[in-house]
Formats: sequence, structure tokens, C-alpha cells
Amino acid sequence: MHIIMSKVKFYKEKEVPLEFHRVKIVQKLTLLPVEERLHALREAGFNSYRMQQKDVYLDMLTDSGTNAMSDRQLGAMMWADDAYAGSTSFLTLEKAVQDIIGKKYVVPAHQGRAAEHTVMTALVKEGDVIPMNYHFGTTITQIGLAGGRFVELINKETAFKSDSENPFKGNADINLLESAIAEYGVSRIPYIRMEASTNLIGGQPFSVANLREVRRTADKYGIRIMLDATLLAENAYLVTRREEEFRNKSLKETVRTICDLADLVYFSARKFGFAKGGVIATDSLEEKYKMDQVTATYEGFINYGGMSTKEIEAIATGLYEAMDEEYTCQSPDFISYFVKEASEYGVPMVTPAGVLGAQIDAAKFCDHLTFRDLPAAAVCAALYIAGGIRTMDGGTGGEAFPDSESDRKADMELVRIAFPRRVFTLSQTIFCLDRLKWLFDHRHMIGALAFDDLPMLQRSFRSPLKPVGDWPEKLAEQFRKDFGESR
Ligand SMILES: Cc1ncc(COP(=O)(O)O)c(C=O)c1O
Repeated sequence: MHIIMSKVKFYKEKEVPLEFHRVKIVQKLTLLPVEERLHALREAGFNSYRMQQKDVYLDMLTDSGTNAMSDRQLGAMMWADDAYAGSTSFLTLEKAVQDIIGKKYVVPAHQGRAAEHTVMTALVKEGDVIPMNYHFGTTITQIGLAGGRFVELINKETAFKSDSENPFKGNADINLLESAIAEYGVSRIPYIRMEASTNLIGGQPFSVANLREVRRTADKYGIRIMLDATLLAENAYLVTRREEEFRNKSLKETVRTICDLADLVYFSARKFGFAKGGVIATDSLEEKYKMDQVTATYEGFINYGGMSTKEIEAIATGLYEAMDEEYTCQSPDFISYFVKEASEYGVPMVTPAGVLGAQIDAAKFCDHLTFRDLPAAAVCAALYIAGGIRTMDGGTGGEAFPDSESDRKADMELVRIAFPRRVFTLSQTIFCLDRLKWLFDHRHMIGALAFDDLPMLQRSFRSPLKPVGDWPEKLAEQFRKDFGESR
């Protein structure tokens, strides 16, 4: 399924997503010759997290903190009020959150995982179990540190099927929720966590209908719901495209409908709000007081929580901008365009197109490799050789917490080609597509990668990798042959 692209029709030209912004500030980019790309990749230990930005042409690693800011956001940053307590900027944020999220009390944090630390430290206790549609790395770390554990509710058959028509792969399975409640008991389950546009299965949304069912079940047992709203604007955008009831609803109405179904909402403003920081919102004064204690200990005073007041102003403005469909559609519509074009060429992409990035199914792309060959990491390295494009390994090589033996298999072998909001142009998108198509035609040249050393934690961020054989050299030679002098 591909979402409808922009409302503007074209006369003779091929229909493409149309931007509703123009460029006012630019950053110089460099595309190194393929021999230098190979050298830079080797220096970085074949791991995209270890690459230097100066060696990267298109940085499509992540949409976290890499989004473009608007003129209004930059303007708002200039009148930030730096008061330690009672800052006017915090009041502005509070008002924006009350208006958009619809919760009374606001707790700031310096980024998403800090918000999670605040929430889990204050509200999860030893032995608690948090059922959730699907895990996110930082979330389960914080739950674990608080002495709790998690169970997943996603329907794995649907969610892990990369080639699919299911519009809401992020839905929670209510039968699994009932089983978790029966198994662990209500007293051990203070919250159910729902994550908007489930990140690690390819930015796949849940439906409002599903969230309503989760709410009904939660109410039956007196359990609260926490919403990870980091990718909420895009989840709501896809709901307006894919869920009949919301076809004529505004983004703001849809976002509010979703937030009203949750008791506590938190998000990383590195994605939601086009800035940097983290925010928690609740109607419970008791929850707020508990979280304030954690904020004051770990983050900063309760009116800034580790953020600069400039960022606080930028988030407040950014939240309103995220409710503007013409801004928010840019990233998902570019992703949809990219996925459609790549799929038509035969590249195995995750469908339907999700948010935050286009995702390649690397297990299918490299069906001559096994998960032990780290296929997603290998495709990332190969895409950098092909076009200086930095992408993210969302596969076995990127698992943050491997079991004691080194071969824990990831649920999916994904390569994420992130589309940070309002950042890349259509010609850059087409360039990326072009290089991906070339790589697809030469996919059997992609070989295995292996760990060069194996730290047990967060190995994706740190571990150098090494190619098995000389396939990177061969691929670079093939590039020269096919592209001549071209970079
Ligand atoms: C769903 C979700 N929750 C939490 C986080 C953590 O946010 P941050 O990177 O700002 O710490 C992220 C970051 O990508 C995320 O996608």
C-alpha cells in the first residue's frame, strides 16, 4: 500500500511529492570519489556509526536531531527566556503541550531516553511488567534499570513480514495483552506502553481503532497507558490516510484523539517538534510530583530539565508546525515515493512504506548471506561505497544486547534509509534511488562482514567490522567500470 502523495496534481510531469517549504540556510556537502569512499569506510571499520560526517554525502543514518528547523523556530530561539525558575519559555512549552497533547502537567527532559529514565524511575518498580506493542532500545534499558521487564504485544507474523499490505503493523494484539495480564497479574502491570509509528519494525503505525481496544482492556483492569509519542505526528498522518474515520480529520484533531486515549505521553523532541529535547505530559499531579523528584536529581530544575531555553522555544514552535500537514507530510511522502520506486525495480523494501525512513529487507536483498554474515551492515557499507550514503544497520549487527554468544539473530534484517524532516531534496532522493538500483543489480558482489571486536553492550555504535574477503574492493572497481569518471 502506498499513501496518497501531495494534493497537487501534475500536468505532464511524473507525479512526485511536492515540498511546502523553501531553502533559506544551506550546508555544503561533499561526494568523495569512490576510492576515497572505500578508504573512509575502511578507516571507520565498516560501521556507519563510526564514519565522519565530512566523508558522507547523504547522511541518512537517522532522523533523530537531524531535522531542518524553520525560520519561525530560529526566530523563537532568539527570545528564549533564560530564567532558572519560572522561565517564560517553559510557560510557552507548557501551553503548546496542553494545546496539542491535551495534558495539564509538563515535565521536561534533555532528550527522549532521559524522559524515559524519568518516567520509568518514578513510576516503575522492582518486579513490574510493562506490556508494549514493540520494544525500543532505550525504553527497555530504562525499564530494566528500574527493576521491571517487558512483554511484546505485536503480532509477529504480521509485523515481521516485510512485504505486506497491512496498513497498521504497529497494532497491539489484544489476545496477547489479555494473556500477559492473566500471566503476570494486574498488580504487576502499572502501565501498557504503546509506541507511535513503531520504530524498530520500520516506522509502522498503529490504528486508532486498535488503541481504543487497548484502552478498553486497560480500563477493564484499571491499568494506565503510556504513549511514546516520538513519532506521533507521522502516525497520525498515516491514520488520516489509512483509517476511514479520520480521512477528513486534521492532524491536530487526530493527534488529540490519540493522546486522549493515553494517560501519560512522552516523546523525544529530536523527532517530534523538529528540535532537541524531551517532554513528558500527564494529567496526574501525583505522577508529576514523583517525576519532578527524578528531574531535579538527574536533569535540572523542573522548568528546563536539562534543555536550553532556546530548545524549549524551538520545541514549542515545532509542535505547532508538526500539526501542519504540509510540513509533516514531507518525510512520509518522500519515503512512500522512494519505497514505491525501489519496489517497482524489484528491490525488497518494507511495505507499506512507514515513517522516519525507507527500509530495505537486507535478508532478501542478500539472500546469499546468512544472519551471521551481518547482511544489513554489509548493505549499509555497500551503499556507502555506491554513493557516499550513510544508512543504519537495523539487523543482527545492530542488536544492542547480544546474548552471551555472539550470534543472536535480530527479528528482522533491516537497512534504514532515514529521511530527516524537511532536509533532502528530490534530486538527492533520486540519486539515492539510482545508487540503490545499481547496488541491487550487483547485490551478489556484497559479501559478509564480521565483528573485529565484540563489546557486549551497544555494539552497533562502537564495534569495528571487517569484510570477509575483498568484496568492498571488487565493488568499488565495478563502480569505476560502470560509472567511469563519475563520483
Ligand atoms: C520511539 C522512540 N522512543 C524513544 C527514543 C529515544 O529518544 P532520544 O534519542 O531523544 O533519546 C527514540 C529515539 O529514536 C524513539 O524512536
